[in-house]
Amino acid sequence: MLATSILIPLLATLVVASPTKRQQQQQQPVGLNALAKQHGKYIGTATNSFNLLGNNPGGAYLDILRREFKGALTAENEGKWDAIHPTPDQYNWAGMDAIVAEARQSPEKVFVRGHTFVWHAQTPAYINQMTDPEQLKSALRDHAMNVAVRYKNDWTYLDAINEPLNEDGTLRDSVWHRVLGEDYLEIALNIIHEAAPSIKLCINDYNIEGVNAKSKGMLAIAKKLLERGAPLHCIGFESHFIAGSMPQDIAASMQQFTDLGLEVPLTELDVRVRVTGNDQASSADLAVQANDYRTAVKTCLDNRLCPGVTVWQFYDPISWIPSLTPGWGAATPYDANFLPKPAYEAMREALAIQ
Ligand code: G3I
Repeated sequence: MLATSILIPLLATLVVASPTKRQQQQQQPVGLNALAKQHGKYIGTATNSFNLLGNNPGGAYLDILRREFKGALTAENEGKWDAIHPTPDQYNWAGMDAIVAEARQSPEKVFVRGHTFVWHAQTPAYINQMTDPEQLKSALRDHAMNVAVRYKNDWTYLDAINEPLNEDGTLRDSVWHRVLGEDYLEIALNIIHEAAPSIKLCINDYNIEGVNAKSKGMLAIAKKLLERGAPLHCIGFESHFIAGSMPQDIAASMQQFTDLGLEVPLTELDVRVRVTGNDQASSADLAVQANDYRTAVKTCLDNRLCPGVTVWQFYDPISWIPSLTPGWGAATPYDANFLPKPAYEAMREALAIQ
């Protein structure tokens, strides 16, 4: 009798005390980045200063950016050499300053990523035309002393070198390779590090997310640079994927680099699908896309040296994909009505504390 009278209230307490799945979901933090923070990671986005102005329906873009993606910010275009330093004596600070200001007004750490210095594209003519090694090094030193030094307290990471490789893993043609030779990566890293030693320097590239000729080429370069004591701190996996075709060995590829002690963030994640007409995708393709977003986020969670995941814009209408790869689109986690897609839910599920 006594036993039952104790047991029944005890059971009742247990039932009340253990939260239902719905209650658990309600207890989860609000945005993706807040969820990621519970794992010691960030979720970020690429953006442009003009996207931050809030001149879209209801200011939804900025609200979503701040709620979901404000763990890390990358300037989609405004930090590139041709944008920020188009002629030797001209600097356009406004775009990057606005992005940095958005990061600074957050009480919490926002990982701003500088993008990008040494690249074959979006580099002004006065650099591309150089033929003298000393002149090119001095131009990079000047760029670093102005741009990297200006943002040395704001940028945690910088894509010091962007997309240096061909698909077979060899060095791609660029003014840097032509004029400075094979050692240009080491030369550039040292020059930039000397100017702004607090910024972590990265080599960023695409199609290195699987174990393949290109990632093996990158691995050989990274090993050589580290052996020579070059200031290399991370390898960025751009992660521009096609739904259903993302490399299934992304974790193994990431580990190739993290085994060397390098950080490997996902720097430009998006997953394109086939679209018709007005960026319309099928629900079957959006489900496949969601699965790829889930895998990408999980891969980062599972590797201690992946600091976080940055999406390359989060709102379909302003993604670079439809204009630069016609017939493809709907690549981000939010649709044209600012509604979260299955990809968003998949990221949330991957980040939820079970
Ligand atoms: O700035 C000019 C403007 O003056 C001109 O009026 C206008 C007319 O088309 O073009 C403007 O330049 C555009 C530029 O973005 C800045 O908005 C280019 O046309 C356009 O092609 C360029 O696209 C960017 C692309 O990089 C260029 O390489 C995309 O927005 C940007 O998302 C994309 O980002 C790259 C990363 O930096 C590196 N990894 C791959 C990724 C996707 O391609």
